[in-house]
Amino acid sequence: MEEQIIVQKNLFVLQTKDTTYCFHVLPSGHLEHLYYGNKIDLEIGYDAIVPKYAFPEGNLNIYDSNFPTIALENRNLEVSTRGKGDIKEPMIEIVFEDGSTTCDFQYSNYHKEKKQPLSSLPSSYDEDQQSETLIVVLKDRNHAVELELHYSVFYESNIITRSTKLLNKGMESIRVERLLSAQLDMDQGTYDFITLKGAWAREMNRQVDLCKQGIIVNDSKTGFSSNRSNPFVMISKPETSEDYGECYGCNLIYSGNHYEAIEVNAFEMTHFVSGINPFGFSYHLDKDQQLEAPEAVLTYSNKGFAGISKHMHHFVKEHIVRGVWKNKERPVLLNSWEASYFDFNEKSLLELAKAGKDVGIELFVLDDGWFGNRNDDTSSLGDWYVNKKKLPNGLVGLANKINQLGMDFGIWVEPEMVSYDSDCYRNHPDFVVEIPGQKQSLGRHQLLLDLTQEKVQQYIITQMTTLFSSANISYVKWDMNRIISDAFSQGLPYHQQGEFYHRYIVGLSYVLDELTRRFSHILFESCASGGNRFDLGIMCYMPQVWISDNTDAIARNEILTGCSYGYPLSLLGGHVSSCPNHQTLRWSSLDTRFQVACFGLLGYECNIARMSKKETKAIKQQIEWYKKYRLILQFGDFYRIKSGENGIYQWIVVAKDKTLAIGLNLQTLVTPNFVNGYFKTKALDSKKIYHFTNRPLLFDLREFGDLVNTIAPIHVKQDGMLHTIAAQFVKMHSEVEDYQVSGEVLNNVGVRLKQGFGGTGFNEEVRLFQDFASRIYIMEEIKK
Ligand code: DGJ
Repeated sequence: MEEQIIVQKNLFVLQTKDTTYCFHVLPSGHLEHLYYGNKIDLEIGYDAIVPKYAFPEGNLNIYDSNFPTIALENRNLEVSTRGKGDIKEPMIEIVFEDGSTTCDFQYSNYHKEKKQPLSSLPSSYDEDQQSETLIVVLKDRNHAVELELHYSVFYESNIITRSTKLLNKGMESIRVERLLSAQLDMDQGTYDFITLKGAWAREMNRQVDLCKQGIIVNDSKTGFSSNRSNPFVMISKPETSEDYGECYGCNLIYSGNHYEAIEVNAFEMTHFVSGINPFGFSYHLDKDQQLEAPEAVLTYSNKGFAGISKHMHHFVKEHIVRGVWKNKERPVLLNSWEASYFDFNEKSLLELAKAGKDVGIELFVLDDGWFGNRNDDTSSLGDWYVNKKKLPNGLVGLANKINQLGMDFGIWVEPEMVSYDSDCYRNHPDFVVEIPGQKQSLGRHQLLLDLTQEKVQQYIITQMTTLFSSANISYVKWDMNRIISDAFSQGLPYHQQGEFYHRYIVGLSYVLDELTRRFSHILFESCASGGNRFDLGIMCYMPQVWISDNTDAIARNEILTGCSYGYPLSLLGGHVSSCPNHQTLRWSSLDTRFQVACFGLLGYECNIARMSKKETKAIKQQIEWYKKYRLILQFGDFYRIKSGENGIYQWIVVAKDKTLAIGLNLQTLVTPNFVNGYFKTKALDSKKIYHFTNRPLLFDLREFGDLVNTIAPIHVKQDGMLHTIAAQFVKMHSEVEDYQVSGEVLNNVGVRLKQGFGGTGFNEEVRLFQDFASRIYIMEEIKK
């Protein structure tokens, strides 16, 4: 492999497979950012790309009279700080003992090393030990404070990660008001800032803001990465589209308050920073203490948003997700939550599990309500011992019976939380996040345990170790259902309360690190009211994430589309639930519910034991089909094809060796008389010949309502007895698409699908494609 990090005198060049990132040291000691983009070779020199200044512009402040052309306000820099004329959003802010806030970091030295983990936070890794890190050390001109800039190169993924470390080497204490992870300055044209916004049950909606002079911020102040604004962002040229054009992507390996700001200055220079949110952050460093910032993940592509997704997916799969489940196929699960909420006992659970087993479920998950006195959400969090009224034989009794049925057993926990009405709170009032003597604001009636305190970390580790060892538990859903308010630690002194939010995340990392190492065989699924902690930090510990509590297929399809910009399918759980849907009251067919949920990690969350024979038969077939294609549905390469144009969503997953691909075609609302659909693939091997088919579906005659009379020999009253009887015997088959076609044709033309229903006639050559209808297409290589 070529050199990843090249240092030539003052020039630093980072090379991935397709990109180059470079900067140099200015005579003043500042690091000037030169370029991040398509791969370039700078071996013959780089004078041409160095910004040229003969005089400072307008009324800019000059950094130092010894360097009369250096004004930091209009320089692209690797680090912006406060106080020396650089008025862009700073990466670092420090208050020194005398109250001054000017930082003046200058280049000191550098070294390279193999990629190392961060010491207090989750971070990326490289199993093959190929990734190298460049560490550039800057020293403050006036204080004994050092700033390390860490750049790690993930060559194959086309990713560069950045993080920072601040070391106080002097006698005085300092207060760090912000220590961000990455900065990216660009001076060629205008950009869009693309973020993923949302709320509970409607996570990950793409928002596009045009960057003009001023600042746009994407952040979280909830204490967690949040469902309001995901830390993954993109910066693209306005003309960039799904497959063409320039785009940068950035994510943060952090589960706490994050901050991504993009600023266009007076000279149309675009300046981007990412890191821990300075909101509520103030960190005290005494002599010889240090603070590390989380890793930010940067990428560039000139192949549109698809290019960014490709890089990010590769990186997350290879360098974030770890452990025995990294590449292991995930079981099809049945979760008890929407099937029975808090209302169950051993008998009803076993009835549900048995029905699950009959349709092919592999893992039965007991959700909330099994512990303490938990019959609703007002009590018992923290009391992680079994409710004997509901489960007289304990967890072990239930788990054994589930195992005897031939399924694995999994359990729900919410270890970071405590209810006022719990033995845990009564015994340990000092363990919780609350300001003594004040009335606290609650979320879902519950309080947080104070993970900044070591004794609380140990308590959770002990409780969970006892629980996870108490039965044959092979899966854990780790939930977290409130945000932080009344932020305060009873364990921290006055001058360190500003460290609370960050220390919580450091404490959480410690707990998760310990438990996932102790129980490495357990499949952990992260959940936070769905997607309220959907980030690369948590994904370092949990290879599976419940992206939303919204199980409605149509909403889910949009959420999954949003997730797909930065995250691969192999992390994303999706469940088939009952209708009307519990979050939206929307009806959609069992087929569509399955055909959306099957892209990623399939589960069911409905009372299969109470379903009709027809439905359970259909579910059995779904699971059989899923198991056949599971590997590609979970780990294939994902591409968006259409994202809502004319109400159509299409995507495709392609096997590594391109011998197989599966596509989805989904409609939200029908566009009348718009019948000529097509499915144009991506990333198939143009040299291969594929067999293109659709997953066959059966429709109920009653879907045609009284249109049945256009073909019936006698009049049929809609929904009358005759209609019902006829529906039992007359099977309506979906259209058949069946072609031998080359990858070249599929990628360039696609398949022109059978005509959609347009109100002018119907037979087996017509695609019945109503509101919320969907089709799955299978493309399998025909071996010569
Ligand atoms: C919120 C989760 O997102 C749900 O899936 C479910 O586990 C409930 N908590 C249980 O209280």
